[in-house]
Amino acid sequence: MDRIRIVGGNELHGVIPISGAKNAALPLMIASLLTDDTLTLENVPHLADVEQLIRILGNHGADISVNGRRERQGESYARTVHFTSRNIVSTTAPYELVSKMRASFWVIGPLLAREGRARVSLPGGCAIGTRPVDLFIEGLTALGASIEIDGGYVNATAPAGGLIGGRYTFPKVSVGATHVLMMAATLANGTTVLGNAAREPEVVDLAKCLNAMGAKISGQGTSTITIEGVRSLSGARHRVLPDRIETGTYAMAVAMAGGDVILEDTEASLLDTALEAIRRAGAEISDTNNGIRIVRNGAGIRPVDIVTDPFPGFPTDLQAQFMGLMTRSSGVSHITETIFENRFMHVQELARLGAKISLTGQTAKVEGVSRLKGAPVMATDLRASVSLVIAGLAAEGETMVSRVYHLDRGFERLEEKLTRCGAHVERVSD
Ligand code: UD1
Repeated sequence: MDRIRIVGGNELHGVIPISGAKNAALPLMIASLLTDDTLTLENVPHLADVEQLIRILGNHGADISVNGRRERQGESYARTVHFTSRNIVSTTAPYELVSKMRASFWVIGPLLAREGRARVSLPGGCAIGTRPVDLFIEGLTALGASIEIDGGYVNATAPAGGLIGGRYTFPKVSVGATHVLMMAATLANGTTVLGNAAREPEVVDLAKCLNAMGAKISGQGTSTITIEGVRSLSGARHRVLPDRIETGTYAMAVAMAGGDVILEDTEASLLDTALEAIRRAGAEISDTNNGIRIVRNGAGIRPVDIVTDPFPGFPTDLQAQFMGLMTRSSGVSHITETIFENRFMHVQELARLGAKISLTGQTAKVEGVSRLKGAPVMATDLRASVSLVIAGLAAEGETMVSRVYHLDRGFERLEEKLTRCGAHVERVSD
């Protein structure tokens, strides 16, 4: 199994190309099931989660082709992928496929809307809390679906004439349930109004693509989304938006290691709150014409408190990385996680590098230390694993991160992107 070896101490200098967002690519790919026409997505990142979803969509009858000639974009390869689901050959998403990635549960929306039924295994995914599916079930029920859970599967059936537009207000903000209800409502009879909807940029990107396919969605990016159902959707061509989590991760890596790096093909407006926290920690951040420049020269890292929140708040997917940065701050910071329980598995691994962190409920108190020392550590989930890489960049000596398949789910060519900026990071295959 591959491991990542980091020798800390080098500053980062250069350009890092930012990939298309995993969390946008996944729902966009799933949206292709809503039409018998071809959906073409540009800037699709090459990640284990994307490959897994390609297998899942293939199981439902999607014909998928990846552009043989990869489009060169800086040093990253942004792929163009074509999805055509002429016929849905199966409305069942089996446990063996869904258990590997939670987002694959989201096929329930398009399958139900287009075929009138879906049988989808309850999901797996990162071990960061219980992550139930009650909001999906309540929301789809509000559109007229009958739902029962049987043998680990969610069986959903639409009324004879198809789903019916309705009103649903989420009791809690959920990105995935917003994606699913928005997709399902595009083909419902009548108008759907979703209240307390997720405002994440990936929701806006999905709405933009669905509208290009002929859907009538408005209000995306606010907490009330209105979807007027249409009879059918057509194909479209859409470019996946930049990955704000990858952007924030590399910004924190530069803030940690020091240096001067341009993050290319990304937008600061996708992550204002996180960039503000990094700025307060002592890095200088400015816009370039195609991205963001981040500099930390000489100055130490200042302690900053953060609380994770739905967009536009500080993203939970950057919490672990920010904690990595705070381990070297000059004082005490508090990091509070409000989205997921049990999303602190990186704490004990960071401690192996010499970090001083104590947990009380959902808040971590991080007492900055003047030096971290490399050690063998274990990746526990996707975002936690990259916080160990960030810490490793500033640790003395060698840090060896095992279980890097977590990283491969969400970070495209991480070691290459960091190495090109002068970091000492390599993949070791046993
Ligand atoms: C998505 C992102 C993930 C990110 C998360 C929060 C993708 C592929 N994944 O995950 O990276 O960390 O948003 O920004 O886009 N919940 C319920 N019942 C439900 C659904 C969710 O209680 O039916 C809870 C969850 O347990 C969690 C909270 O709602 O506590 C938010 O989860 P949600 O926004 O749904 O996360 P995902 O869409 O799975």
